[in-house]
Amino acid sequence: MDKLVIEGGLPLNGSVPISGAKNAALPILIATLLAPGEHVIDNVPGLVDVSSTLSLMGRIGCPSLLSGSRVRLDTTRVAFCEAPYDVVRKMRASVLVLGPLLARCGEARVSLPGGCAIGMRPVDQHLKGLEALGCTFNLENGYINGRVDHLVGADIHLDVPTVTGTENILMAAVLAEGITRIHNAAREPEIVDLARFLRSMGARVTGEGTDVIEVDGVPALRPSRIPHRILPDRIEAGTYLVAGAITGGRLTIEGAPVEELNAVLAVLEQAGCSISVTGDAITVERNGPLQSVNVSTEPHPGFPTDMQAQWMALMAVANGVSVVEECIFENRFMHVPELNRLGARVVTDGRCATITGVSDLVGATVMATDLRASASLVLAGLVASGQTQMLRLYHLDRGYDRLVEKLQGVGARVVRVADDVTVEVGSLTQDEEAKRAVS
Ligand code: EPU
Repeated sequence: MDKLVIEGGLPLNGSVPISGAKNAALPILIATLLAPGEHVIDNVPGLVDVSSTLSLMGRIGCPSLLSGSRVRLDTTRVAFCEAPYDVVRKMRASVLVLGPLLARCGEARVSLPGGCAIGMRPVDQHLKGLEALGCTFNLENGYINGRVDHLVGADIHLDVPTVTGTENILMAAVLAEGITRIHNAAREPEIVDLARFLRSMGARVTGEGTDVIEVDGVPALRPSRIPHRILPDRIEAGTYLVAGAITGGRLTIEGAPVEELNAVLAVLEQAGCSISVTGDAITVERNGPLQSVNVSTEPHPGFPTDMQAQWMALMAVANGVSVVEECIFENRFMHVPELNRLGARVVTDGRCATITGVSDLVGATVMATDLRASASLVLAGLVASGQTQMLRLYHLDRGYDRLVEKLQGVGARVVRVADDVTVEVGSLTQDEEAKRAVS
């Protein structure tokens, strides 16, 4: 196993290219199941979650070829309608095969995802929506067994605007007979990208990006002749913007989804950063000290829960006291004790965390608990004095494409080494050495 070793305290300067969005790539790769044939998807990020998705597709009977950021998938045949426990356990998004497999094969067997490090995360709304379209489910031995003879469009009212729930229902509805309306649908940009992809295969979808999505079902879809390009990752972009802000450099994010980042850009400005946008490049710069700003996480277009942990790292070194309210997941503060090990002063009470800014963080060994918690600890490590070592890198590998390379490219002292390798304090001061040490 590897660890990340960071020597903090350097401002990051330069530009970082943004990769394709994880949370758009996963549903889109899975949506290829809806149209038998050969698909080409571009701008796919190099992530463990993408490899897990392709391996799941392989087990279903759909081989793929990954070259660079292009994926070719052959969904001509489906051999097994199942997402087994060992795959779902590693990647909850595997539940996204439920809707497409039911639509394609009339049956699906998917291991029930349990709770995880950030909350209970039930799938009741996915099932409720699919039931409204005519599917029946029984839960047996930890598996959801679904069947349907004939999908028929329906009006579906979601109790919560769930992202993957909306996607699952949308992917089934495109092949249902008649009209489906998903009310209280999630409005995240990744759903907009999925709808675009479904339309490129012949689906009739409107209203994506609003809270009512309307689908006029078609009997069959066919692969698009034009490769679909995954939209850029707004959470990766937001994470690097915070990296620029926290280290006090001048960092440009290239190929960013500017519109989708409005909520993050607004609070960065309130925190004392200057933001300039040229086309799809965003530059963040800080000339004075950071100021505390309260945030509450909300469904899109509000401040994203997937940026909450990173924001907290920023507030840990801001002037004054701020409150972060987590309104999406009930247990997404696992990074707090680890941030506090680096010298942050954060106290949680239910869904709220109160952060008293400190002038300095100090490097320590920390343990990542989930993907965005890992990002938060990397950001804190970039500003902490001395050496920070982060263990359990597999979370980070799930969601950040070439993180070490991208950070090194803008001047960060960071290396990835095997767990048992000791990196002397101060040895990362020369960039060339740092690059040589990357495993
Ligand atoms: N919920 C229910 N019932 C359901 C589904 C969801 O009560 O059937 C609740 C959840 O427990 C949660 C809320 O609804 O409290 C929102 O959860 P949602 O279903 O929207 O989350 P998700 O679809 O499982 C996606 C992203 C997450 C991101 C959330 C919120 C993917 C693959 N994952 O998860 O991304 O945090 O939406 O925006 O798209 C990440 O990338 O680090 C990540 C966790």
